[in-house]
Amino acid sequence: MPRQFFVGGNFKMNPSSRDQTKSIINILNSADLDSTTEIVIAPPSLYLMDVKETVRSEIQVSAQNCHHKDSGAFTGEISPVQLVDANIPWVILGHSERRTHFGETSEFIAQKTKAALKATLKVILCVGETLEEREAGKTAAVVQKQLQAVVDVLQESDWSGIVIAYEPVWAIGTGRVATSFQAEEAQLDIRTYISQSVSPSVAENTRIIYGGSVTAANSKELSTQPDVDGFLVGGASLKPEFVNIINSRLT
Ligand code: PGA
Repeated sequence: MPRQFFVGGNFKMNPSSRDQTKSIINILNSADLDSTTEIVIAPPSLYLMDVKETVRSEIQVSAQNCHHKDSGAFTGEISPVQLVDANIPWVILGHSERRTHFGETSEFIAQKTKAALKATLKVILCVGETLEEREAGKTAAVVQKQLQAVVDVLQESDWSGIVIAYEPVWAIGTGRVATSFQAEEAQLDIRTYISQSVSPSVAENTRIIYGGSVTAANSKELSTQPDVDGFLVGGASLKPEFVNIINSRLT
């Protein structure tokens, strides 16, 4: 079975109003979208319910983060069971902005991933190296270490709920997209690592998507790479060109 192409839109802490959010949803609701692509959008948590209620049913909704406990005294946090209760099926975990600005370690992200899966959420698990690490030839080692923490706490069957997003930190929000060669090389390394550390069938079935300055202008070529199973899109997911990225394998 070929892996289903997957496109995620990570709105981050944008847009800054409900009206702007509505405009993005309206564009998606009226567009012709590739029906073979799985589409997931992640608005800020404040807008999750609105978006869930107004977006067309083929588009799924994701949170951008969650806690690992079910409930309790964790001011400002949302739990996996609360997301499930609100019919939000996905969560993004391990984004480099959470790792960098909020001090999330790979072990903490692994704990959250385990809790999210246990609550029946599906997880977009982000990994990626900094420019310094890439230039030092450490890309594969850094990414493997980030994944290792998750591999250590999951069962083989848990992996059916995970999409891995390879997002080089130097490409996120910079306009400096990885070349198809760089994306394919890193993502094949990830698949090989998953094959060795989890199992060949999990490696074969797990979607590995690319994120970092994806636009309508570069998505088509990236999408032709055998180990690029889709995209996680930040800035361009707020623009009409997101439709073209979703449709990048058409025509
Ligand atoms: P970008 O962000 O597309 O704006 O580079 C990607 C991401 O952070 O997921």
